[in-house]
Amino acid sequence: MKILVIGSSGQLGTQIFNLKNSLNFLDFYFCNKNDLDISSPESIDSFFVNNKFDVVINCAAYTSVDEAEKNFEYAKIINGYSIDYICKSLEKHKPDTKFIHLSTDYIFDGEFLKPICEKDNPNPISKYGKSKLLGEEMLQKSKIPSIIIRVSWLYSIFGKNFMKTIINLSKTKKSISVISDQIGSPTSANDLVECILRIIASERFNDYAQKKGIFHFCNKGSCSWYEFAKEILLLTSSDCKICPITTDEYKTLAARPKYSVLDTSKIESSFGLEINSWKEALQNTINSENTNYNKLI
Ligand SMILES: NC(=O)c1ccc[n+]([C@@H]2O[C@H](COP(=O)([O-])OP(=O)(O)OC[C@H]3O[C@@H](n4cnc5c(N)ncnc54)[C@H](OP(=O)(O)O)[C@@H]3O)[C@@H](O)[C@H]2O)c1
Repeated sequence: MKILVIGSSGQLGTQIFNLKNSLNFLDFYFCNKNDLDISSPESIDSFFVNNKFDVVINCAAYTSVDEAEKNFEYAKIINGYSIDYICKSLEKHKPDTKFIHLSTDYIFDGEFLKPICEKDNPNPISKYGKSKLLGEEMLQKSKIPSIIIRVSWLYSIFGKNFMKTIINLSKTKKSISVISDQIGSPTSANDLVECILRIIASERFNDYAQKKGIFHFCNKGSCSWYEFAKEILLLTSSDCKICPITTDEYKTLAARPKYSVLDTSKIESSFGLEINSWKEALQNTINSENTNYNKLI
């Protein structure tokens, strides 16, 4: 099976690249922004005329949540219209390609009182969330068989993410203030990649892709950013203190949902997954063989 990973130099793309050697039954191709710029319909089309794949995994995105408030038009191109460009090109050149796309808990407004299901109504409160929802809409109206996986609070040993920021800050600061009134679920990129591979290997992949399935994935349980940070420092044996602060005390350009815990029961039952708790997943990441936290800065 030929699998293309778009946006391969980002956090998730690198995580897939890192696991690919243990997956030699799959034929992976990796494209970063220089190989394939998804903001250009012409580049996309000339790429897919010459290259055919069974599965495309789109890890490319404009992920700077605050910057998207100022660069909404560009965020809409990368997170929204580019999905339409890719689908139109696939419809022309290889319409049976299955498309796996990543989306986010930030398409929801945070006003839920229980974990959010796939059928719950999106209502983004940030420009980033709006641009990601546009991408979902583009994919849902295309004829390409597809799966959308919405994830939350993604972290790994690669790229930029909250876990690495906290570890790095803890090396130079005596205390760090972290928001305690936004609740969500951390998602280990390693566990997400294992989930994506289970989906691709599943006999039900084709059925769900034909039905344009939407799924939620994150590690089990929930916490605030403050609790997440405390656990990171516990597992890295840091003496740095974590102080809780409220969203009102930490102004950002973009609003974030107060509560964005995703309900993962659909993806678990559809693909027979057993998902690690967020604490187990964090421990696995921090203990992972490849991790050398002295190199993380
Ligand atoms: N990070 C999170 O906390 C989080 C949470 C929920 C959902 N997600 C979703 O999960 C997915 C993966 O996120 P991530 O953390 O891996 O993101 P990331 O580290 O920011 O990676 C995104 C990649 O997309 C590339 N890209 C940007 N513009 C491009 C273009 N025009 N053409 C081709 N590639 C382009 C970037 O390249 P450059 O760096 O060279 O610009 C980067 O390598 C995204 O869909 C994101 O929305 C992430």
